[in-house]
Amino acid sequence: MTARPVWLRRYARVQPKRACAGRRDPHFVDIMDFDFSQLTEYQRYKLMASLIVPRPIALVTTLSANGVVNAAPFSMFNMMGEEPPIVMISVNKHSDGQIKDTAANILASGEFVVHLADEAIAEQMHACGERLPPEVSEVERVGFSTAPSNAVAPPRIVEAPVAFECRLWEKLETDSRYIFIGRVLWLHAREGLIDIESFRVRLQDYFPVARFGASFYINTRERYPLGVAGGGGQASRATPIDEI
Ligand SMILES: Cc1cc2nc3c(=O)[nH]c(=O)nc-3n(C[C@H](O)[C@H](O)[C@H](O)COP(=O)(O)O)c2cc1C
Repeated sequence: MTARPVWLRRYARVQPKRACAGRRDPHFVDIMDFDFSQLTEYQRYKLMASLIVPRPIALVTTLSANGVVNAAPFSMFNMMGEEPPIVMISVNKHSDGQIKDTAANILASGEFVVHLADEAIAEQMHACGERLPPEVSEVERVGFSTAPSNAVAPPRIVEAPVAFECRLWEKLETDSRYIFIGRVLWLHAREGLIDIESFRVRLQDYFPVARFGASFYINTRERYPLGVAGGGGQASRATPIDEI
């Protein structure tokens, strides 16, 4: 095979599809196969960041050595486990070689707070993505209120529905990024969001926003159960999907 990035291949279906749009043969699926070793870094980023969606968004506060409270959103973010309780964020390096404030602060202090952004604070969260000099606080700029954290120096944003205080547990450095894994020390949640008897989250009161491809966001209002007796109709809306 000569080196090229994209191959078009036809695969037989085990079960022919009944309704097939346009001229598609119901017995086959046509697939574009991409050889990642033949793609540029930019092409890989575009494909992965647009296809691996929706992504949750961590709004991260850190504290600089000069006491400036920094806030920035990161959608390359997720929970990684509960024993120990760890979350990860992936912070890319600027093309001019400079390190983002969040990365610089975590490298220096090992402490950060991860907030989830809901609809009520989505615009402020987005505004925190603007590139500002390290001496300018996004938190002050967008009008967030803060409260001291319990175990780490960076304060938390009280308008956020959820805040996880984290201490750096592990760090990876790749050519393009710092990947920080934080151990969760404390959780702060908006009053009423968690039933503290059952430890269930009242998901009917929780509306985090997520990153979609390109510059799009999505809300999390359309929820439906799968694999629940009775199907996904209206009658099954009060199923375990409502409360986990
Ligand atoms: C919704 C959203 C998600 C983002 N996700 C990431 C991400 O996962 N990694 C990253 O390096 N930058 C991401 N950015 C860009 C950073 O937020 C942006 O570079 C920010 O200015 C960094 O701020 P800092 O220099 O104060 O750390 C995202 C921006 C937005 C608006």
